[in-house]
Amino acid sequence: MADSQRHPFLHGLSKHRGAPPTVVVIFGASGDLTARKLIPAVYNLGADSLLPTDFHLVGYGRKEIPDEEFRKLAADAIKEFSRREPDEKVWDRIASNTTYVAGGYDDPAAYQRLARHIDEIEKRVGRDVQALFYISTPPSVFAPILRNLGAAGLAGKHLGAPHHAKVIIEKPFGRDLESALALNGTIRSVFEEHQVYRIDHYLGKETVQDLLVQRFANAIFEPLWNRNYIDSVQITVAEEVGVGTRGGYYEQSGCLRDMIQNHTMQLLALTAMEPPVSLDAEAIRDEKVKLLKAIQPLNLGGNGDVARAQYSEGMIGGKAVPGYLSEEGIAPGSKTETFAALRLSINNWRWQGVPFYLRSGKRMARRVSEIAINFKRPPGTLFAEGEKFNLANNTLAFQIQPDEGLGMILNAKVPGLETRTQPVKMNFRYATTFGSNTPEAYERLVLDAMIGDGTLFIRGDEAETSWKLCTPILQAWVEAGREGMDSYPAGSWGPASSEALLTKHNHFWRQP
Ligand code: BG6
Repeated sequence: MADSQRHPFLHGLSKHRGAPPTVVVIFGASGDLTARKLIPAVYNLGADSLLPTDFHLVGYGRKEIPDEEFRKLAADAIKEFSRREPDEKVWDRIASNTTYVAGGYDDPAAYQRLARHIDEIEKRVGRDVQALFYISTPPSVFAPILRNLGAAGLAGKHLGAPHHAKVIIEKPFGRDLESALALNGTIRSVFEEHQVYRIDHYLGKETVQDLLVQRFANAIFEPLWNRNYIDSVQITVAEEVGVGTRGGYYEQSGCLRDMIQNHTMQLLALTAMEPPVSLDAEAIRDEKVKLLKAIQPLNLGGNGDVARAQYSEGMIGGKAVPGYLSEEGIAPGSKTETFAALRLSINNWRWQGVPFYLRSGKRMARRVSEIAINFKRPPGTLFAEGEKFNLANNTLAFQIQPDEGLGMILNAKVPGLETRTQPVKMNFRYATTFGSNTPEAYERLVLDAMIGDGTLFIRGDEAETSWKLCTPILQAWVEAGREGMDSYPAGSWGPASSEALLTKHNHFWRQP
């Protein structure tokens, strides 16, 4: 059976979307993300015959690692983290073109070595090879890497640069508006925007892409997708995990920077944006930016539009876990939030008066990400809520993960000789309909970047617009110190202040 018959979403990945000869250079080659996500993504693209024939992988990092050892590290990473059992034939093909270059991130001579290495690969291939630089390092070295790529003529924009070049950058894209503007300034001094692929891995998730299909490939939603029929929207990105060993990073970040400014804002933009004129990357990103610009500044006062909290000790999966302040690497009296919730208003024709509630947190009751569209009630002339008529608002819930799918709450008649009603669920589940071996977000994203499709990446102005909204919140929190920092037991759905954010507007968080 053809791939595209087995799995309709493989249409977008069909073989004619071939990438040209490519060398992928990973900066931060011995890092966690490289092992967990990038190498397995490359491997699975190989297993699906989606890598170009002339594909080369180059690891770049400070450590001296012989090629052979880097290949071994990569093979181990595939064994441990790939969604498929490794097939030696597939890996051998990739491994034969996998090498390593050791060098400092701030060492111009090392970038000259890298340039010569890429030249040699190109000579062997015998035709033009594009270079895709994947920056998967701590943000402190983003700027030196970008500048050195430019100085070594590797960015492709400079006179005499032989390669077509692209750059993929992992978040964070700054830590507030000012640093985001500075980072974008550095990027633009070296690369053109069309060469830049800012990753938000949520955009690579199947169900996030499905949001566009559901909204714009079905006739039934669009007429209802506005303030006349929609009462409110809730976006939840909840994690069971705590900060684990990432305390050092997390203390500098916190939930607003780590999850809200990027992942949940992207989900919001795709949910609420106007229909784009085409599926072209710029058309979609233009609409997302327009939507983000229409979000009103928040009320940051005591009883306003935001809540923040830290988890205290509690139970996860039947096991006692410590509170945030007792985790490794966390400062005593830390002011870093592990949970944040916002109430947003979008000031445009479509959404005037419809609240959008966003929440995200670590150590919550369950790992679940969903977007729930709550519809208004019909007039209660025939069925008014009461003893006989148990009624709920119609809700359309996009379950991003786990158990990917789409659910709808309708009101139905309970079987019997009198008319009683009860809310019922109608469900579509990816695993049931399509089978469960769907590609990982990074597979789609690495392939799209190789092909040159920026649709699922964040454009510079998107990142800036989102920071414009989030930076005043961060500033208000810095000024307030620990005042207003709520807490929630690990394993719960968040703090009381997050509930209050909704109840004062007669809304309630849905139990996803
Ligand atoms: C990352 C955050 O961007 O997303 C992590 O830095 C978080 O803190 C992760 O755990 C969640 O991603 P996913 O795909 O597991 O929902």
